[in-house]
Parts: sequence; structure tokens; C-alpha cells
Amino acid sequence: MNKIIYLDAAASAQKPASVIKAEVDFLQNSYANSGRGICNRSVAVDDMVASARAHVAKFINADTNQIVFTSGATDGLNRVVNIISSQPWYSKISTFAVSDLDHHSARLPWQESLRAGNFHKMYVCELDENFDIKIDSIPRTDFLVVTAMSNVLGRGQDVEKIIAAAREKNPHVVTVVDASQYVVHSEIDVKKWDCDFLVFSGHKIGADTGVGVLYIRDSARYWPEKFGGGMVVKTDEKQTTFAASPDKWEAGTLPLTQIIGLDVALDEIEKNRPDLNLIKYAYDELSKIPSVKILTARDAAILSFIVDNMHPLDVGAILGAHDICVRAGNMCASWIHKRMGIPGSVRISVGTWNTMDDIKTVVDIIKNIVK
Ligand code: ALA
Repeated sequence: MNKIIYLDAAASAQKPASVIKAEVDFLQNSYANSGRGICNRSVAVDDMVASARAHVAKFINADTNQIVFTSGATDGLNRVVNIISSQPWYSKISTFAVSDLDHHSARLPWQESLRAGNFHKMYVCELDENFDIKIDSIPRTDFLVVTAMSNVLGRGQDVEKIIAAAREKNPHVVTVVDASQYVVHSEIDVKKWDCDFLVFSGHKIGADTGVGVLYIRDSARYWPEKFGGGMVVKTDEKQTTFAASPDKWEAGTLPLTQIIGLDVALDEIEKNRPDLNLIKYAYDELSKIPSVKILTARDAAILSFIVDNMHPLDVGAILGAHDICVRAGNMCASWIHKRMGIPGSVRISVGTWNTMDDIKTVVDIIKNIVK
């Protein structure tokens, strides 16, 4: 069997050995539920979860009780809309703003909630000639969704400036950052960004699937929207007192194994991020091919392209037949593709496991495909 060349880190990262080892060790030697037991083993799991939470908090410059574990970014993004629209003080005449950089999971929960009558209006922020969010197009709005890095274009947005511009128009705007791609490549500082909510998935930074992070700045403002065990201080038929954050947001058993893996994945990413020189090399080589049109910048974290007279899915399938994994299609980001006037694209994205040889191989194969 040929060696698989995995160039689809932006979809999901390969897992470092240390993450796998930590999860296996936990499952084999230390497994118990957290927040439930009083035996030593259970208490030890509480400590592991607390340590992972503190690590995530430090990683994005948050306070520990602002970090909520979810099942992933999609879960976090859906929950934010549900949290907001279920508050007793919430007004259905509210507006929200999105941009064409959004992944479906960042915009659709809002769009669907608008369709259900929970919002009054959706604005779409404009993009400039580089497909960056145009700061002066940010409207006066009640809620703003910011995709910190598009999963198609791989360009970090100036989140701090975007949020500051929204706050200038409305000091009470509530801001939600989708950092799913950004977190892989750059540091996040929620205090500097001044955001209200932020989400990312563990699996894109080397942790397992099934775990994500939801940062909530002002938990006390919101009544929980999801109910169950582990979040209640006292309840009777008339009234329930909920625990403080983060317990208040974490009804049910947490994805413990994945949280323990996430703690270790953060150690790894703090030491080593993907080498974007590989993307630059691919950019330089593929831009020499007349029938290839590159959609991304040379210094982007991702390389997306199309080939004249070939459907992106066909290009992806041919690369797949050569044991090269890339993503092709609209990548759950139909708005940016629509804006570019194309049905989809082919995406090369690298992780810490990729080498220059991997990139040279894929470039040679693309040259052969298109000649
Ligand atoms: N959102 C992931 C991607 O961009 C799955 O491929």
C-alpha cells in the first residue's frame, strides 16, 4: 500500500502520539466519571478536567470559569444562538451580522433562528478585494458573528478591530467568534479581542473528536438553555438553583477522555504549529501552472485552488486515488464560493506531520493531472 499523504489538516488534524497515549492511559488505568463521585478515582478525574480547563483558559487568556466544554465548534455555535434567544430579556426585534467568510455552522444557526421568527434582520458584512471583512461595512447590530479565519481562504481577520468597530456603532453588541481555523495557526487573546463568546473544536488542534471549547465572558447574564445532571445546586417543584459557570453549562457527563486528550494536544500546539512554508512552496509551484487558479494568498494558512475545465470534486477524487487526502467541494462554506462565482475548490492544508516531500509529491501529481 502507498503511503497516505494527509493534507487535510483543516478538516481534522492527525493525533500526536502523546494525545493517544494520554487517552489510552486514562481509559485503561484511571477511568471514572467526573463531578459525580467521592472516591479517590473520581476526584482524580475532577482534577484532570480542572487542569485541562485551566490550560484552555490560559491558552486563550480567559478565566477558568469562562471555559465550557462542548462537543465541538458546531455545538458551541448552535448553543450560543439558543442561549441568547431563550433569555427572558431577549427581544425578537434583534438584528445580527455575519459575513461571507462563515462556515455553515457559524451562520446557519442564526439564519434558521431568523426564519423561525426569533430575529428581525440579518446583515452581511462586506468583504474587501482581499476577502477581508471591510471594517467600515460593519453595521449597527445587536449581535455580530466573526469568522476569525475562513476555512477556504486561511487568512486571519483582525478580530480586535472588527469588534471595536461594531462596539463603536453599538456599545452593547454581543460578539461571537468562530476561531476553529484561527486557533490552529495563531494565538488567541479573548480579553484583547473583547469578545463575548468564542468557540473552537479540539479535533483541529490534535485532540480527539467530540470535544470543543465555548468561551462565555458574562455567564451570569444568561440562564442555561440545556438542563440535566451536574448543573444543579438545589431543585424542587417550584424552583431550581443552578451552579455557577462552568458547571451551569455542562449538563450531563462530559467527554472526559477527549478533554484529557485536549490538555495534551494544547501542550503539543504550544510547542509546534504547522509549517506554513510548505503552503508557500505549493503556492509558488502551482502558480506556475497556467490552468491552475489559486484562490488564496501566498502567506495564507491554507491553499485553495481550482483547475480550468475540471470540477473540484474530480480533482479531489484523482488526488484521492493517488492516496493524497485533500478537501474538495464547497467545504461547508458556500457563501464565499458563491461570491467567487465557483461551485467549490480544492484545499491543501498542512499539519505538523507534513514534510516538504509530501508537498513536492502533491505538486508533481497536480502537474500530471492538468497537463
Ligand atoms: N470545517 C472543516 C473543514 O473546513 C470540516 O473541512
